Amino acid sequence: MTQKSIQIAVEEYNSMADLPEADLVLMKLAEEALNAAYAAYSHYRVGAALRLSNGKILTGNNQENAAYPSGLCAERVAMFYAKSQFPDENIEAIAISARSEDFTIEEAVSPCGACRQVMAEYQIQQNSPIRVVMKGEKGPLLAVNSIKALLPLMFHAEELKRKG
Ligand code: THU
Repeated sequence: MTQKSIQIAVEEYNSMADLPEADLVLMKLAEEALNAAYAAYSHYRVGAALRLSNGKILTGNNQENAAYPSGLCAERVAMFYAKSQFPDENIEAIAISARSEDFTIEEAVSPCGACRQVMAEYQIQQNSPIRVVMKGEKGPLLAVNSIKALLPLMFHAEELKRKG
């Protein structure tokens, strides 16, 4: 057995004002988008804003349902909308923010596994990295320059090809 370790690079920003301008623009829109979330069950509102390679910025928020698994996260609402409208554009960056009606979110919100998987597929398909910027109500903001940082050892379409 050999043991390997995988390192990831994460940027930390003390406040929104410290973000690079392009991230700041996205994060402000993510914060705005969370206000319109349909979070009737979790009371946990998430907003996402993404920038496409044509410069367009699109937003999404979480949409819940009484049949819980039927709901969808903010990130996937935004990404599926973006790719349904602009299939040939790359997603360059996505900003995510959250606010709870019941408590203070102490750390930057980090996308769930299913959203990471969707980001990973688009990143591979478009052959250019997706930057992810994350914010909570407290604590530093975090950013990674590629979905590889959030999903090491990812499952991708190559795995579906029969080998040998
Ligand atoms: N949620 C998101 O929209 N994005 C995340 O990154 C984490 C979780 C939503 C799903 C659900 O509506 C609520 O937050 C609580 O899990």
